[in-house]
Amino acid sequence: MEIFTTKKNLTEYLEQLRKAGKKIGFVPTLGALHQGHLSLLAQSQQYCDVSICSIFVNPTQFNDPKDLEKYPRPIASDIEKLEQAGCDILFNPEVNEMYAANEQWHLDIGELEHLLEGKFRPGHYQGVTQVVFKLFDIVKPDMAFFGQKDYQQFLVIQKMVELLHLPVKLVMCPILREPDGLAMSSRNIHLSVEERRHALVLSKTLNWLKQHFNKSNIASLTNASEVMINAEPGVQLEYFEVVDGDSLHSADQQTKSIVALVAVKVGNTRLIDNIILVD
Ligand code: PAF
Repeated sequence: MEIFTTKKNLTEYLEQLRKAGKKIGFVPTLGALHQGHLSLLAQSQQYCDVSICSIFVNPTQFNDPKDLEKYPRPIASDIEKLEQAGCDILFNPEVNEMYAANEQWHLDIGELEHLLEGKFRPGHYQGVTQVVFKLFDIVKPDMAFFGQKDYQQFLVIQKMVELLHLPVKLVMCPILREPDGLAMSSRNIHLSVEERRHALVLSKTLNWLKQHFNKSNIASLTNASEVMINAEPGVQLEYFEVVDGDSLHSADQQTKSIVALVAVKVGNTRLIDNIILVD
């Protein structure tokens, strides 16, 4: 695997590949890689000639400085995982390679910025669009792969691609789960054994909802899901919403694509999860 830490060296290298007609697939990450990330890489390898992964803990998308500070950064084991998975290129820049001092960014992505995650993490999606725009500009990928776990993030990036007419095809890849149902996340390592057990209420509730889902009683099913989560000790519910999969507005009988999205805090760890109810 080729490893680059500077934009200049990476763009020169990629330029050669592009000239040779190679299709470039891109998997941007914050590192602390798990099977979920590697499944995105596997998708990229399936569709593209060259796959590049970035590991960059982007400070502008963390609204809580403590969260940024404690974000795991196991770079040596990440490199090993990528090597083993056959990744072609890693881009692993320092913060000052990506940002000039006091850089400003604002992209009007409309309501998507303020709904659900946006309410609990003000400014988060501005940071995400800022860094993903920069990364797309450097890598100029043909295709980019993102996980369904960050469902709203995918919609936000899709909106940015539309607004700025960026020539990249986005692919949303399914959530990977641990055998007990917990959605894979870099943050799971912060959970104690007990917290991890309580966190299973998310996937259990989402699966229960999917099994019982029926467009005619969304309100009562949402309410029952909230009750299940609130009954779990140590779990603090931030939101549980059944929404239109495109607009993230509350779903009703007329809504075509429907997704349930949930966010909780288990101890000090914030977890999100979701399930597509109607495609
Ligand atoms: O989903 C993530 O890992 C990050 O938000 C992303 C897309 C790599 C931007 O920093």
